[in-house]
Amino acid sequence: MRTKVTKAIFPVAGLGTRFLPATKSVPKEIMTLVDRPLIQYAIDEARAAGIKEFIFVTSRGKSALEDYFDHNPVIENELKRKNKTKLLEVLKETDMDSGAIAYIRQHKALGLGHAVWCARRLIANEPFAVILPDDVIAADKPCLQQMVEAYQETGGNMVAAMEVSPEKASSYGVLDVKDDMGSLVSVQGMVEKPEPGTAPSNLAVIGRYILTPQILRNINGLDKGAGGELQLTDAIAQEIPKNNVYGYRFRGQRFDCGSKAGFLQATVSFGLARDDLKDDLQAYLHEIMSVEKAAQ
Ligand code: G1P
Repeated sequence: MRTKVTKAIFPVAGLGTRFLPATKSVPKEIMTLVDRPLIQYAIDEARAAGIKEFIFVTSRGKSALEDYFDHNPVIENELKRKNKTKLLEVLKETDMDSGAIAYIRQHKALGLGHAVWCARRLIANEPFAVILPDDVIAADKPCLQQMVEAYQETGGNMVAAMEVSPEKASSYGVLDVKDDMGSLVSVQGMVEKPEPGTAPSNLAVIGRYILTPQILRNINGLDKGAGGELQLTDAIAQEIPKNNVYGYRFRGQRFDCGSKAGFLQATVSFGLARDDLKDDLQAYLHEIMSVEKAAQ
């Protein structure tokens, strides 16, 4: 039996400048898809995969995240007084066991690798997961759960992977595939944000990882990589000679909620998936599409 993956790191220190002015006072992870903040989707996915300890790597201005996962006696008492049991149930999703969640500050924005490294003392010597909340993945079986199951077979280091169009590859970490076994691929190279036209494939890394603690030691000695930052991709790539790096093509639809277009698409898609919103939203979409067609 492999050591269970029970710890996950959530790098949430980014400034979210693409969403200014909203992110001037609201952390981007608190921005809502329908009625849940992005971070709630990430936490739910982690829980489904068996994660018990949640490590947030934060920065200045992210206290709304801490409040979100705390009890709010004012709201709770008011809902109890009014007998709003359904809403009280909804609030329960945000409950965290005492001590299950830890916040660590990344004092300098030195990159994703550095953010993950900031959590090293809480990870100690266990395998761990990393979830980037910007990447929202709609799936019947949550993506990290799929990966944890695959990891039972492989061990080692595993990154979520997805085919992207060649012109988009330079926005991602990209895998150089050794053996393609379908949902699983073994990796013989990994490049963070390759120059346009130089990507080894169009299989991109998506923000879910299961990693060995060795990755944290690798980050320790890492040189600056793409964008002048310490890149998690580079620390994982150092493990490739040990033949223990895998890409996992997950089943599900990924939304890039770090971009405005991706966020809007996710909003529509998650709205359409909701019984209480589907009919109204569908009718509205039909209406605007037919107006558009008529105008053409
Ligand atoms: C990060 C990773 C990159 C990965 C991407 C997925 O990049 O560094 O390897 O492909 O997330 O969303 P970022 O989007 O933070 O620039």
